[in-house]
Amino acid sequence: MRLQHATWQEVEAYLQHKRGVIVPIGSTEQHGPTGLLGTDAICPEVIAWELGKRHEVLVAPTQNLGMAQHHLAFPGTISLRPTTLIAVLRDTIESLAGHGFRHILFLNGHGGNIATLSAAFAEVYAERSMRRGGEPAAPLHLSTHNWFAGPRVRKLAESLYGDAEGTHATASEIALSWYAHPESIKQAELTPRVAPRGSAGCDADEFRRRFPDGRMGSDPALASIEQGQQLFEAGVMDCWEAYRAFIDTV
Ligand code: NI
Repeated sequence: MRLQHATWQEVEAYLQHKRGVIVPIGSTEQHGPTGLLGTDAICPEVIAWELGKRHEVLVAPTQNLGMAQHHLAFPGTISLRPTTLIAVLRDTIESLAGHGFRHILFLNGHGGNIATLSAAFAEVYAERSMRRGGEPAAPLHLSTHNWFAGPRVRKLAESLYGDAEGTHATASEIALSWYAHPESIKQAELTPRVAPRGSAGCDADEFRRRFPDGRMGSDPALASIEQGQQLFEAGVMDCWEAYRAFIDTV
């Protein structure tokens, strides 16, 4: 069930027997000459929506803007500062917790969000811990699952692409985004075929010097829609397993 396609009464009824919700989170940032700017949001979103359909879990609206400052030298990228994203995440979490959600899983598609998600969770927990006034608060569990790091997805990406998977504008995320949006497939010459490797721990101008066309270590020309479908199925299974393990925590 998608929150945006539900009524408040449906959410109220859901909360009678379930307390878990999935929040897809990505980024709006360059993904090389053939990758869509929305790749990091599109990938977790399409997996989350499928989980919503197959398993009747509630899926909140996608957080489409992430922490992507290092991509800002490429047109189209929109970034939130870490402090801004922490504030957005806190408000999202506290809104959902206020309605009675107890397990909030962020299904993430962007490595650059991971540290900020952890910091946001720590802020929420700190606020609760410091406001303790006798009565214990209702439990609240927060977690992140990176769709690209699940065991089935990793194994499949390794077998399909090996070292040419890369770490940004990866062959697997491009394939999955093409499966989700075949009408938006792009073709372009990639030179060199496998992009340079290195660290993204720098500012935007330095990132563009290190990675001139935006890719990091990847050859997304290897990607296909058929592979995207395989990655989708693997991602759905990995993410469901992660969600089930998460909601079993007490
Ligand atoms: Ni990405």
